[in-house]
Amino acid sequence: MVIEKATPRIPADLLLRQTLSRRKRLTRGDSAWISRAVFSYFRWLNWLPENAPLPQRIEGALELANRFALNPAEVSDTELLRRAVPEWIGAHLSLTGEWVRALQTEPSLWLRARKGAVSDLKNVLGNCDPSGFDRFPQSFRYTGEEDLFRHQIFQAGAFEIQDIASQAVGLLCAPKADEIWWDTCAGEGGKTLHLSDLMDGKGLIWATDRSEWRLDRLKLRAGRAGCFNYRSRAWDGSANLPTNTQFDGILVDAPCSGIGTWGRNPHSRWTVTPQDVSELAVIQKQILHNAASALKVGGRLFYAVCTLSRAETWEVAAALTEQHPELEPLPLENPFKPGSVPVTALTLWPQDTLGNGMFVAGWRRKA
Ligand SMILES: C[S@@+](CC[C@H](N)C(=O)[O-])C[C@H]1O[C@@H](n2cnc3c(N)ncnc32)[C@H](O)[C@@H]1O
Repeated sequence: MVIEKATPRIPADLLLRQTLSRRKRLTRGDSAWISRAVFSYFRWLNWLPENAPLPQRIEGALELANRFALNPAEVSDTELLRRAVPEWIGAHLSLTGEWVRALQTEPSLWLRARKGAVSDLKNVLGNCDPSGFDRFPQSFRYTGEEDLFRHQIFQAGAFEIQDIASQAVGLLCAPKADEIWWDTCAGEGGKTLHLSDLMDGKGLIWATDRSEWRLDRLKLRAGRAGCFNYRSRAWDGSANLPTNTQFDGILVDAPCSGIGTWGRNPHSRWTVTPQDVSELAVIQKQILHNAASALKVGGRLFYAVCTLSRAETWEVAAALTEQHPELEPLPLENPFKPGSVPVTALTLWPQDTLGNGMFVAGWRRKA
């Protein structure tokens, strides 16, 4: 039913969440199997016989997923590049075998523990992958099957479910306690909560978004996480800013085509269009340009998107640098490659993050 009803406006992941939450009698194992079947279907779509009945196609997708997990070399890069992503994408980013292989690999579930809570949390949850990244001391992968949203310690605010690439954005922002930050596209607050934790709950974060229902969700999450150093307002990205405050730090985690999430969310490979990419690039440039005017001298501005198209990443960053001579690009070290030479814009590929893909660029306002 989810597979047949999913559309660009009602994506498979949303439909799946809604459907599973209504079916109270399903066991955790049933829900996990259904989710895996739906995602495998869209991940292996171009390998499935077109005229076969749906149950047979789903079975075929699960078999392909199992075989790829056991022996990835069985499928060549050439075949993956031809079938795993839509043809148009080749004109928008550097297509590599590593990237499409990462897209066909079942994604990890990354958690972010509140500061100081990581070892207790791992003991309580169990089923945690001991490997991780040195620069991410609060992050680890959960490999168990429990519904973490219902877990008592989740309700008590001990951790957030947050992809590692999103966590990288907070680490790169590196806000200091007592600074004043603006999270311009805060949505449901994933990064607001991370910034707040990094600031030890001190200072202040303005959390704005065009969508008020998302900000309402942020309030619920903030209450659970014990995050009180924020203020939320609606803002639509226009020149009419929500406040006259000049900020120490601004994060523009802009709306995007989400190509960086194609591994976790394979349905969107077949719904995003080149037109979405070009329309979103216009919106990203506008939000970034308007937000930049609220930066203090010496303040830092960060642009992040969970997408990888050149038009929404490098070209947006280059346009801002050109339009704003008062901003100088800020060198950033790739947190997944400690010791690498800092660069002014980072493309974080899923094959390196073991999570989503992400682009981050930073600037400092000159004196
Ligand atoms: C990538 S999501 C933000 C995710 C969020 N920062 C987090 O970490 O959970 C982008 C957000 O931009 C918001 N948005 C879309 N268009 C906007 C606009 N013109 N001005 C401000 N926010 C906008 C969306 O409502 C969405 O919440």
